[in-house]
Formats: sequence, C-alpha cells, structure tokens
Amino acid sequence: MTQMKRLSIGILGSGKGSNCRAILERIRSGDLAAEARLVVSDVLDAPILDMAREFRVANTYLPPGRFRTRLEPEIEEQLVQTLRHAGVELVVLAGFMRVLHQPMLKAFPHRIINIHPSLLPKFPGLEAWKQALVAGETVTGCTVHYVDDRIDHGQILAQKEVKILPNESAESLHARIQVLEHELYPAVVAEFCKRYAEATQPDKGWSDN
Ligand code: GRF
Repeated sequence: MTQMKRLSIGILGSGKGSNCRAILERIRSGDLAAEARLVVSDVLDAPILDMAREFRVANTYLPPGRFRTRLEPEIEEQLVQTLRHAGVELVVLAGFMRVLHQPMLKAFPHRIINIHPSLLPKFPGLEAWKQALVAGETVTGCTVHYVDDRIDHGQILAQKEVKILPNESAESLHARIQVLEHELYPAVVAEFCKRYAEATQPDKGWSDN
C-alpha cells in the first residue's frame, strides 16, 4: 500500500495553543497526513510549548526583540532559517500575536495560514467575538486565511458560522467559536495535505492557491 506523502508543518503560537492541540491530535489519530516538525513561540512560558513537549514535537522559544507587535527583522530572518532547517513546508499560525513581514512572507509565499475568531473581513484585531457582540451581530464565526503583512487580512480559505444567542456572554460566544475553530483548522490543513500528496510528480509541485 502506498503511504500518503506527509506535509511538514510548523506551528507558531503565543498562548494556550488549543488550535495546536486540535491539529496535533488529528495527526496523532492518523487522520491528518501531516507531520508537525516544530512549534515556535515568542513567549517563553506559553502553554503551547508545553503542549509540543506533551506531543513530543520539537519546540523552541524565539526571543522576539524590542517590538511589541512584530519581530525584529533579523529575528524574523532567524525564524525563516529555523523553519527551513526543520523542513517546514506549511506555516500554521495558531494564536501568534505578531504581524509577519517580508522575511517570512517572501520565504513562504502562499504557505502561511492563520485562524481568526470572526467572519473576516469583519472584526480583525483583538477579541473579535466581543467586537461582534458590541456591533449587535446575530451571526459570527471563524475564518482561516492566507497571511499577508496586515492584521487578520489575506485571501480567505474557509469560514464557519455560529449564531449568537440572545443575551449571550462574551465568554460563552468565545468558547463556542473555539469549538468551531478546532474543527475548521485541521480540516483546512487536511486540504493542504491532500493537494500536497496529489502533486506526486517532482516537476509538478503543489499548486499555489
Ligand atoms: C484563536 O481564537 C484564534 O482564532 C486566534 O487566537 C486564538 C488562539 O487560541 N488567532 P489558541 O491559543 O489556539 O487556544
């Protein structure tokens, strides 16, 4: 039996890593033909790094430098080298709280994806579920998109909707969106895996979008 060729992924996160867990669990259970090569965090004590250790995935802390919302350019170059060295082919942002710029975008064109807790282009930025509540929306959700150099911006790949309940609290809405995220993100990564496996001929490569 021919084995499906596995897509090497790198996961970047700054926080609790529940989306990372959802992806690692799907890999472990055998229904996601990916291999997690590396988890990187810009936060030394981020739970996502403990999670990587729990799943026995290589992991590293990347000291981000002196900026708050981005990496210093030399550090972003260092990140490119680290990911390349690990053989990463798809970069998966899972709660990574910094905007990426040229070094990463140039090194991984159409190979960096992000998940965001709103129906983009509505409500980019922080606490998007609260923004949806304040705006009086009746429906919100989550979006997976390609990453560009703007916050929560870039070509949309997939979305899932959730109805906002009457008098719903921010905590409840956030929790319900996260349940959807944990289904949507592995499903999108699975799509990339499928396309990657289909591109069997060396000269064919895998399509860009
Ligand atoms: C998610 O809600 C995601 O949409 C946003 O950051 C959060 C990360 O959560 N980009 P977790 O660390 O995966 O639990």
